[in-house]
Amino acid sequence: MDKQLLSRTAAAMVAKGKGILAADESSGTCEKRFQSIGAECTGESRRVYRGLLFGTPGVEQFVSGVILFDETARQKANDGAPFPEYLARKGIIPGIKVDKGTVDIPFSAGEKVTDGLDGLQKRMKEYFDMGCRFAKWRAVITIGEGIPTHTCLYANAHALARYAAICQEASIVPMIEPEVLLEGSHTAERSEAVHEETLRATYAAMAAYRVSIEHLILKTSMVVSGKACPRQANVDEVAERTVRVLKRTVPAAQPGVVFLSGGQSDEAATAHLNAMASTKGLPWPLTFSYSRALQNPALKTWKGQAANIAAAQKAFYHRAHMNGLACQGKWKPELERQAA
Ligand code: 13P
Repeated sequence: MDKQLLSRTAAAMVAKGKGILAADESSGTCEKRFQSIGAECTGESRRVYRGLLFGTPGVEQFVSGVILFDETARQKANDGAPFPEYLARKGIIPGIKVDKGTVDIPFSAGEKVTDGLDGLQKRMKEYFDMGCRFAKWRAVITIGEGIPTHTCLYANAHALARYAAICQEASIVPMIEPEVLLEGSHTAERSEAVHEETLRATYAAMAAYRVSIEHLILKTSMVVSGKACPRQANVDEVAERTVRVLKRTVPAAQPGVVFLSGGQSDEAATAHLNAMASTKGLPWPLTFSYSRALQNPALKTWKGQAANIAAAQKAFYHRAHMNGLACQGKWKPELERQAA
């Protein structure tokens, strides 16, 4: 465990004005996204699309790191360099998704636990040798009648902690992602309570497995109203509730907190981040680690056509720029309109 390397990596991931691009969609998720734009989904088309994003000129001003899917980490950029090496050359830290997705929890209807601990120590060594310096593991918490159960929170927290300890032992910064889904008709108040329980269980497990808080990044969902809830919390309420939960549960010693977008609109994800990052006196930097809210406009512009690559890169650059401002509390809605 190289503590200096872990500290350097974690600090660089949340450097001022920068955030993370989540580009670790599984091939199945890519299939759905590519279908929505009428593009064929093959290993090669996924390579071309990821290459488009990573090759966007100047995007490294706003993007500190990229989360890769295993397939992408083994693919090469157009110049022949493996993607991890290509990114590192641009000053972007390569990261890797290491979980293997979710499975049903026995006796806990509708709830999931994340798989992937078997053989992880060996895989982690290989990822380090490939140049990956941080890793992601996503746990999924669903809100519904009688759920989440204690069983679900406990099982996921322990898997997250075991994974985080394995990462740190291999000098890879763990990005722990307990995602509370926004699907459902729950209120923002209920979402806040579930986030609090989830994060408490998560950090209790971190302590149980002696995970070093100083070398850990939290990737969390925001406290928003359920998608089907008739009353939608506004930007200020989302920011207030999310920051309150984080203050209650996340140790001050942690180097940073990043957010997933979770199906929010692109602009809502930016506005929420901006409002939270404007809060004075927080013990940790807050920034983005979005997939959909960073990639949506680029994907729609690209449509799988080589002729659209430059325009798609422009769209991606714009979202990265807006979020780069938002994580400093410097974004304004007018900036979106000026660019349009
Ligand atoms: P979204 O921003 O699309 O929620 O994806 C982030 C992520 O990495 C989910 O695991």
